[in-house]
Amino acid sequence: MTTPRDIAILVGSLRRESLNRKTAKTLIEIAPKGLALEIVEIGALALYNADLDEHDPPREWTAFRERIGRADGILFVTPEYNRGVPGVLKNAIDVASRPHGNNRFDGKPGGVVSVSPGAIGGFGANHHVRQSLVFLNVPVLQQPEAYIGGAGKMFDDAGRMTNDSTRAFLAKFLDAYAAWVENIAPVKP
Ligand SMILES: Cc1cc2nc3c(=O)[nH]c(=O)nc-3n(C[C@H](O)[C@H](O)[C@H](O)COP(=O)(O)O)c2cc1C
Repeated sequence: MTTPRDIAILVGSLRRESLNRKTAKTLIEIAPKGLALEIVEIGALALYNADLDEHDPPREWTAFRERIGRADGILFVTPEYNRGVPGVLKNAIDVASRPHGNNRFDGKPGGVVSVSPGAIGGFGANHHVRQSLVFLNVPVLQQPEAYIGGAGKMFDDAGRMTNDSTRAFLAKFLDAYAAWVENIAPVKP
């Protein structure tokens, strides 16, 4: 039996009742056998300051960089803040992209899911993340695009996604992402 691919999920919200975190948990629940998804926490990462990289970087940065470095792929699940990427997610991206010459995202197959209670499903944030991923050399799954709108009504009190069509769509998205991972970063024989 082949080992499932190790996929780090970065959630762009720190909120306890975050719709994005609930969506990330739904992805974990429905993931195909070939993918092992794990939320990698980003809330304790100090704001990026290159001075701290000169001598003894914060241990949270070091652990996060190591975790991203060993992942087979990265899924970004993010809200939209003022039509862009929330600072907390941008900070995590910046931390693991440095120090210069040691970009931990380099070449890893990526996927982006944006989630909002609003109608346009975080479209702005979804594409804003992609802008950084171009520079970081993360090949991002193009289709299907995942803009999850109206997410305020998709979960029950226990945080379970009750919207069957969205669950089915996310399953389709994950199947395409699993194929993308094998396409971009096939297991070495
Ligand atoms: C600072 C801030 C800016 C926001 N800007 C947007 C926005 O541009 N587009 C949008 O759809 N929702 C916006 N929202 C609403 C968020 O989509 C909503 O709070 C959502 O629940 C956040 O995701 P979460 O539930 O995962 O925390 C904003 C919320 C905050 C706190």
